[in-house]
Order: sequence, then structure tokens, then C-alpha cells
Amino acid sequence: MHGLVFLTLCWILSPKADGSCTLPPLWTGDWYDSFYGQLTFSGTSALTGWQVTSFASVITSWTCVSEDTTNNYLLFLGDQPVDFFGMPQNVFRCVKWIKITNNSFYYYARSDIEVNAKNARVKVEARDPAVTSWSTASYCNPTSAPGPEEYHVLIKKGSESLAKQWCPVPLLGTFNYVHNDGTTESCASDSQMTACPSWTTIQFDYTKCSKTQAFSQEGSVYCVNTIAEGDKLLHGPVQPWGGEYSLSQVYLLCDI
Ligand SMILES: *[C@@H]1O[C@H](CO)[C@@H](O)[C@H](O)[C@H]1NC(C)=O
Repeated sequence: MHGLVFLTLCWILSPKADGSCTLPPLWTGDWYDSFYGQLTFSGTSALTGWQVTSFASVITSWTCVSEDTTNNYLLFLGDQPVDFFGMPQNVFRCVKWIKITNNSFYYYARSDIEVNAKNARVKVEARDPAVTSWSTASYCNPTSAPGPEEYHVLIKKGSESLAKQWCPVPLLGTFNYVHNDGTTESCASDSQMTACPSWTTIQFDYTKCSKTQAFSQEGSVYCVNTIAEGDKLLHGPVQPWGGEYSLSQVYLLCDI
């Protein structure tokens, strides 16, 4: 009942704002995207850092052109010209974002996989100079929506420790693990990882098995987000200290 009342109020208070876009003011500044690396939000609608190649053109900066504040959709249009045999193309990327903390959120790219953009989830279409506004209703509804595991996490640069969350409850303990890189297994004979005592940081004991885990040289990762999918937990950890942030899609898959 409460849920219903809440949704109804949201609908009234947050009308769709197709045709314009104002990014959340808290986002201004530098972030790490788990797939694209460093991003910068500036002004009310500008984003640099998502690098997408379409035909022979590379897009690195984007402008948010439309939003749906009910569904948290943001529709971005690539700033760089994309040319296909003399025909200018527009490249769109719609995202649905979900807040984790003030310093972290995750998102799904709500576009179909585009073969003309190296299989990125973007929409490429011929540019019509007469069209100057685009709706989330048309551009944020892919035929094949991303699966739950296709989420990207964003973490505000300099505020990584504020993005720490409880690790998923089934991981709140000390465990053996086996590392599987897709072809070979390691750490099977001896290993230890523990989420204790912090509950927000997983420590891998590299004295038992030195294979680097979750891109962390120090063997220590913060928990920042957990998504349940059936009997799996999809859990994206982040390397907390120093060096390069390589947040590439790393998941711990736990049978629960
Ligand atoms: C998040 O940001 C909002 C707006 O600036 C602020 O009012 C709120 O206190 C912040 N929350 C936390 C937990 O820092």
C-alpha cells in the first residue's frame, strides 16, 4: 500500500522532462566507470569519457539531451561527428541509473547492441537536421534489454571509501576460494578470503595463494554493490588504494 502511494506521488511530482536534461548536481566532477574508466560530468548536461567507436569515428564526449525522471533515464547524444560514406550519423546512449550512495551509483545502458559501434549498447542512426529533440520513450526502449549482470558502477573519484557498502550477507565470513579465469583454475589447494572484521572490505590472503584477485595488488577490495540474480549474487568490487583503477567487469559469483 505504501509503495503504491509513493509511486503515485513520484509520478505527480516528477513529470517526464523529455527534450531537456539536467544531470544531478552531485555528479559534477570526476568518476570511475567500471567499464570505461575515468569520466567527467560538467555543466548541467556534459559527460566526457565514454569512448565509443562507430564506423571510423571515435566519440568521447556526450551531451544529455533528454531525461525521464520517473524511470531515471538519461539520453545522451555523442558530440563528435560520425560519418558513414558522407552521411552524418547520430549516436545515442540511454542509461537507467540507480543511486547507491551520494558517491556511487550503477546504471544499465538501455540501447540495443549496435554492430556498427563494435557491439556497444548505443543507437546509431542517420542525422536529420530537422530533428533537434529526442524522446526517452523512443530511445530508451531496446528490443533486447541488458541482463542484470550488465551493470556498470560509477564511483566518485576521491570519495572511494564513502562508496563502501556491506558485502553481501553470504560473504560475511572467511572462505576458501578458487580462482577461475575462464580457462584455468588456481588457488584450489590453499586460499583464504575474509570480509571480517570490516564487513565492507574483502581481504585476500596472498600468502596462501598469490594469484591477483579482483585486480587488487594489495589483495583488498571494497564492496560497493551487489545485485541478486536468481541464485547468484553479482558483486562488483573496487580496488581501493593507489595505482590504476581497473574496475573492469569483475564479479564474484556465489551460489547461495
Ligand atoms: C547526500 O547529498 C545531499 C545533497 O547534497 C545531502 O543533503 C545529504 O546529506 C548527503 N548524504 C550523505 C549521506 O552525505
